[in-house]
Amino acid sequence: MNILKKTLTAAAISAALLPATAVQAGEVEVLHWWTAGGEARAAAALKEMMEEQGHTWKDFAVAGGGGEAAMTVLKTRAVSGNPPAAAQIKGLDIQEWAKLGFLTSLDDVAEANNWDQLIPPVIADVMKYEGSYVAVPVNVHRVNWLWANPDVLEKAGVKVPTTLDEFYKAAEKLEAAGVIPLAHGGQPWQDATVFEAVALAVMGPEDYARAFVEHDMEVINSPMMEKVFSEFAKVMSYVDDNAAGRDWNTATAMVIRGDAAMQIMGDWAKGEFTAAGLTPGEDYICAPAPGTAGEFTFNVDSFAMFSLDDDENTEAQKDLARTILEPEFQTVFNKAKGSIPVRTDMDMSNFDACAQASMDAFKSSAKNGGLVPSFAHGLATTSYIQGQIFDVVTNFVNTDDKDPARATDQLAAAIKAAM
Ligand code: GAL
Repeated sequence: MNILKKTLTAAAISAALLPATAVQAGEVEVLHWWTAGGEARAAAALKEMMEEQGHTWKDFAVAGGGGEAAMTVLKTRAVSGNPPAAAQIKGLDIQEWAKLGFLTSLDDVAEANNWDQLIPPVIADVMKYEGSYVAVPVNVHRVNWLWANPDVLEKAGVKVPTTLDEFYKAAEKLEAAGVIPLAHGGQPWQDATVFEAVALAVMGPEDYARAFVEHDMEVINSPMMEKVFSEFAKVMSYVDDNAAGRDWNTATAMVIRGDAAMQIMGDWAKGEFTAAGLTPGEDYICAPAPGTAGEFTFNVDSFAMFSLDDDENTEAQKDLARTILEPEFQTVFNKAKGSIPVRTDMDMSNFDACAQASMDAFKSSAKNGGLVPSFAHGLATTSYIQGQIFDVVTNFVNTDDKDPARATDQLAAAIKAAM
């Protein structure tokens, strides 16, 4: 029996032993975009834990990595007065939805369960609107990861690259050996995921934050940004010609199969390796994206809770919020998802080596200034500015005649227009 099943069975037994009065059944409709292999296993853990408490789970999955499609569908549902109980909404968007009056306060659940003590303050702040919790964080994803197939690297005689220059040298050898150096897909958020890893490597965390959090024009419109674009162009030159329209998990599968050597992607990719039964350090390698060791681009998944009319469904919604932060869910879910628990008091000894490395880097980078929010995943800036950055970056990827100076001008103009 795998660990997921074992823990779920244990949860089922303890739920069965609860007095019947503790269960007031309701329905929770949950919007998310977790449809890839590892993501779906992780989402199933939440569904099962809710069902074990007697509630009904109404799955509202909208496929599409990064969640752009899901957000479009959510807007339509909310505007028509029929929002789900919970929706995967992240970062500054939580504030936007709360400001519009759609969200409900979770303060009673938060107080009863000591959320302020459990959740790191930088994350708790994002979950609160005017001092009240309106969302609950699920996990912490590290975005600046490199995933690699060790057999493929070995056959080409290359080591895991730790800098951009090492990456280019390795990529040349891999190409000569007939493998695709970098697996990548064809969506704007995937381009932005690689772009922000390169930006962090070139700029360092301080200037990264000045550009992508504070939107300081001196840093955005600078020779340093031109360098980010020229390095990004070099990295992307090692992607095969068929990337257009490819999903991120298809790119991960290329690394798993050995058709490609590496992928720069957040640790939801680890969910794919885990779902395939693979072991880190043996079957695949996780390493910081080249040039970003010790630094940590964070992406926190969270569920915002919508105001509901029905009392039983509101109770079920509260149970959902409480369950998400319980240690048992944090363990089962994050093992499947590839992320680390959002609670920093968790025992990490039964997590894999990549998760342990991630938790160490999360804690140390928070102390030394290397912890920065991911703009590719909505944690650094508004969705308007994020959309503008995506457009510039993706246009750059899809243009044959790549001009870093022109792209830098476009980036500055685009961000200015959305501020
Ligand atoms: C991110 C999300 C992750 C993962 C990824 C790919 O934005 O935070 O949980 O699902 O998209 O779908």
